[in-house]
Amino acid sequence: MGVRFRGWGTAVPDHVVTNDDLSRTLDTSDAWITERTGIRERRIGGTAKSLGVLAGSRALADAGVEPADIDFLVLATTTPDRITPATAPMIAAELGLTCPAMDVNGACSGFMYALRTAQGLLETGNTRILVIGSENLSRWVDWNDRNMAVLLADGAGAAVIEHDATVNEILSFRLGANGEWADLLTCEHGGYFQMDGKEVFRRAVRVVVESAELALADAGVTADQIALVVPHQANIRIIQAATQRLGIPMERAVVVLDRYGNTSSSSIPLAFDDARSNGRVVAGEYALFTGFGAGMTWASAVMRWA
Ligand code: UT7
Repeated sequence: MGVRFRGWGTAVPDHVVTNDDLSRTLDTSDAWITERTGIRERRIGGTAKSLGVLAGSRALADAGVEPADIDFLVLATTTPDRITPATAPMIAAELGLTCPAMDVNGACSGFMYALRTAQGLLETGNTRILVIGSENLSRWVDWNDRNMAVLLADGAGAAVIEHDATVNEILSFRLGANGEWADLLTCEHGGYFQMDGKEVFRRAVRVVVESAELALADAGVTADQIALVVPHQANIRIIQAATQRLGIPMERAVVVLDRYGNTSSSSIPLAFDDARSNGRVVAGEYALFTGFGAGMTWASAVMRWA
């Protein structure tokens, strides 16, 4: 059963918040944030719905398909606009989709979880699916808490994937979850994001490397064959540590966190779209997508571009 990516789209708020902007109200500095995370600025604003609609409409246009051509909408979001209803049906209505629509919460692995769900939905008879990651993390950040305020941001990314009998671009998928690590990164009802950053960091590198190695083995691809790594954009040091352990040169990894910060479910499609617009997505080459997040959840997939 073949799956092919047909189009991509992204959306970020216009409002740029730099490290220096944050340093004016928080006990932090551009030097600390840049050195410890790699983040220089981030975009703040919008809602999961508004950003998702924009990214989704751009993906439809890029794919050259009409709303009626979409059989299912899967939205990855950690920050739905309301607890209920889900945000996906509201995005679907705005885009003119009349298909089923649902939210998936895999935290920062969310886009990967949504993509795997969509792949399964194609296997059960759907033809074309819109997958969106959209986040409004800033709404759940305590802007007096330097631990989270310097990291999280808003944005969205989307892809149209479709059944294709002649090619297959998703070669393997490895997902995982461990709820025993749930308390490492949380946001309670009515509360704010809280994180044990050091522990998340340590486990993130481990689960990314383990799941990536399994996904590579499943695909029958070696690390040196990977031309592009599209990692979750949480911290440049996590990306450096994971690529080093995998034996993949850091230059092959896409990094957009310097401009966008950590946008959770949106970070992988934002990174991919950046790679694509810079000519880094080449037919015949292999790519590794890999992410981790609250839950704790993780996911790796190997792609080969048709
Ligand atoms: O999307 C998935 C979830 N998120 C992540 O993946 C994040 C994973 N974790 C991380 O990225 C890193 O652990 C952080 C960026 C959160 C923290 O970096 P770190 O190198 O682990 O720093 P630390 O927590 O060990 O703190 C080092 C020092 C401490 O001061 P002392 O005890 O050495 O005096 C902190 O109090 O830096 C201090 N510090 C800060 N200083 C300025 C902590 N946060 C800040 C800050 N600005 N924002």
